[in-house]
Amino acid sequence: MHPLHSHRVLAEKIHEFWVEAPLVARKYRAGQFVIVRTHDRGERIPLTVVQADAANGRIRLIVQEAGKATALMAKFGPGDSFLDVVGPLGKPTHIENWGNLIAVCGGVGAAPLLPIVKAAAEAGNNVFAVIGARSKDLMILEDEFRAACKDVRISTDDGTYGMKGFVTDVLRKWVEEGQKFHEAIIVGPVVMMKVAAALTKDLGIPSLASLNPIMVDGTGMCGGCRVTVHGKTFFACVDGPEFDAHGVDFQELILRNQAYRDQEMRQLEHMADDECKLEAQLHGEKSHV
Ligand code: FES
Repeated sequence: MHPLHSHRVLAEKIHEFWVEAPLVARKYRAGQFVIVRTHDRGERIPLTVVQADAANGRIRLIVQEAGKATALMAKFGPGDSFLDVVGPLGKPTHIENWGNLIAVCGGVGAAPLLPIVKAAAEAGNNVFAVIGARSKDLMILEDEFRAACKDVRISTDDGTYGMKGFVTDVLRKWVEEGQKFHEAIIVGPVVMMKVAAALTKDLGIPSLASLNPIMVDGTGMCGGCRVTVHGKTFFACVDGPEFDAHGVDFQELILRNQAYRDQEMRQLEHMADDECKLEAQLHGEKSHV
């Protein structure tokens, strides 16, 4: 069991947890993730580790409520525990001194990107960041990005903060103003990554994308996280999660990620009815959910 040390709501449906996981905290390096389960019949949820506190044996996770399992997690409070926290999984991000690194994220993609940005800055890079969100209320981690980066620009779809538009609009404008970037890293919703990767390809900026396919075992055995990069098949859990953004078959990734959407929606519709049972299950009482 992995007891919770804190739970904070960062924005609507976006939650931050500090969880006891001493082995993960000791071995973790930027770019790696864990797979968690809330209870013995819960689904496996891959989550990037945002920060590790090895001295206190804790890791920081940021979770967006998107389905039944994450909605249950959102109800966690003092005294609750995660059943499993498996990891650290995946390859650490390859960091070198590229020069000017542009970090591009959308939505909750800011969470996996933050540790990479910090590591890249520590390695001597000038890190620039574009953070996008649907609206100001959904912007997370801006202060921490500002602390690690040389410059940060913001875009919101509705214009409530920063530039109205998409992260790609900000990036294009920045380059048109004469800013040079030697490497890019892109994290966020798959459609956003697809569009941003197409732009950095046009601009001639080598780019990494941190992929978020469906994962099951996280060990390279189940094939659930299959992705195609430059025409070859890889498993994101053991070969990734980062790949050359210019070689990723994003359309395939979009279709694979949609495979369970109908079941997920049905489960969410039933969730209100199941709520009492879920609470009971979470707290170890008898339940038939
Ligand atoms: S999650 Fe099963 S092979 Fe990657």
